[in-house]
Amino acid sequence: MTALLSVHGVGKSFPGVRALHNMQLELRHGEVLALVGENGAGKSTLMKLLSGIYTPDQGTFKLNGQPFVPDNPKHAQELGISIIHQEFNLMPDLTIAHNIFIGREPRRFGLLTERELNRKALALFDRINLRLNPREKVGNLTVAKQQMVEIAKALSHESKVIIMDEPTAALNDAEVATLHHLIRGFISPDTGVIYISHRMDELKQISQRITVIRDGEYVDTVDTAQTSMKEVISLMVGRRISGEQRPSPATVEAATEASSDVVLSVKGLSTKTLLKDVGFELRRGEILGFAGLMGAGRTEVARAIVGADNASFSELKVHGASVAVPNPAAAAKFGIGYLSEDRKHLGLMLERDVKENITLSSLAKNAPGGIINDKALRRTAEVFSQKLRIKTPSVHQLARNLSGGNQQKIVIAKWLVKDCDILIFDEPTRGIDVGAKEEIYKLLDELAASGKAIIMISSELPEILRMSHRIAVMCEGRITGFLGNAEATQENIMELATRRPSVTAPVTAGEMTA
Ligand SMILES: Nc1ncnc2c1ncn2[C@@H]1O[C@H](COP(=O)(O)OP(=O)(O)OP(=O)(O)O)[C@@H](O)[C@H]1O
Ligand SMILES: [Mg+2]
Repeated sequence: MTALLSVHGVGKSFPGVRALHNMQLELRHGEVLALVGENGAGKSTLMKLLSGIYTPDQGTFKLNGQPFVPDNPKHAQELGISIIHQEFNLMPDLTIAHNIFIGREPRRFGLLTERELNRKALALFDRINLRLNPREKVGNLTVAKQQMVEIAKALSHESKVIIMDEPTAALNDAEVATLHHLIRGFISPDTGVIYISHRMDELKQISQRITVIRDGEYVDTVDTAQTSMKEVISLMVGRRISGEQRPSPATVEAATEASSDVVLSVKGLSTKTLLKDVGFELRRGEILGFAGLMGAGRTEVARAIVGADNASFSELKVHGASVAVPNPAAAAKFGIGYLSEDRKHLGLMLERDVKENITLSSLAKNAPGGIINDKALRRTAEVFSQKLRIKTPSVHQLARNLSGGNQQKIVIAKWLVKDCDILIFDEPTRGIDVGAKEEIYKLLDELAASGKAIIMISSELPEILRMSHRIAVMCEGRITGFLGNAEATQENIMELATRRPSVTAPVTAGEMTA
């Protein structure tokens, strides 16, 4: 049977990088095909070729057996191929309805009719069972809602193929379920979806087959139902990943010993919007995990501590001394580093190279006597590029040219280079491939062992369990409990994460050391 969409012998190179070589792929009618591979494997590049953003150097694409060459995204759209990018393409200042029908707005006597536009959008949302207000500005929406707008837009084009590049990287479980529901509703005997993800768990839920690529080359395609995720991972990385261990009891004990130094003490942290009387202590050498559902307040705690948002504390002490932290720059002076959840906007200079991104913010360390030692900078950047397996031809490559996951690794490297005693990592492995995750875990373990104190916020429970010496669980702006690593399970974390604070006495800083 003719495939819905197929890729034959496709190649694409950039200066110094062979992104794709002799690539093949076949999307069948009515299927969700997952596309997986490590950071920098070439997934996004292939999608950009299919949607006409780049032109292939070699090879052909076919749609229902007919060769096609998309000139640009609009042309691809006309052929029936929509792409939802890793980085969104929405206009934040326009409304939802305007974003969906941009360039296709209904007009009467040449004038745009706002009511008709919103009516059309509502009819679309009804059809796909989506609750959105078409008049709302896109800039005010959560990432999940923006994702939904992108999908609604693709559906409004009557697309035959939708390509989704990491659609769930920033979604919580309920939002993922809604997205999957939308995808199932879209699938029919003459449509198909190519679904890129680093979240192995969801491939089972949504895909029928999985195509694996590595270093720009096709590896294999397997039936999802007949394949274990372990097999998929080893196809992806071409080596075995250890994974799944927990910190040894000895390291936990060393890290949580009551007598060891408290480097950060937080009491009575509240904000106008969400946080209520949050308190905890963080010790030298400890990894304190923060678990909770999306919106529980974990990021807010981090932002309050580094002075990014207004908050009140009854106590905020660093190394035993009370401090006021008006902004993140001040936090860095106190030795507190914060890797924010929203890395693209806050952490990366796209037009600078890898070396500058990694080292610029810690220049003082590299410039004894005010003289910048460029060789030392380069060496530092190279060491960390290797440690994190950043895929780049050299440290002189512009950040803009790296793949999404490798850009995130740069931001992580930047904080590792900065010499902070207290590091707060918010979703450090989001969008990072399974192999590189293990490298990041190892680095965090090493940092803790060398005496740094680490707060790790993560929505992935296996990651929290793998990394944390102790776990603080939040629900609706409060800490509902602390768990030692030995007693923590996915179940008791979920129990605390959904425990309404109204039926629980708040945990005070005193209780938690027990
Ligand atoms: N415009 C460009 N200029 C130079 N190199 C590029 C460009 N776009 C992509 N590359 C390189 O091509 C390779 C493939 O990148 P791509 O973005 O396709 O990876 P990916 O599989 O999507 O990875 P990720 O999981 O991190 O998103 C990478 O080595 C990347 O640095
Ligand atoms: Mg990508």
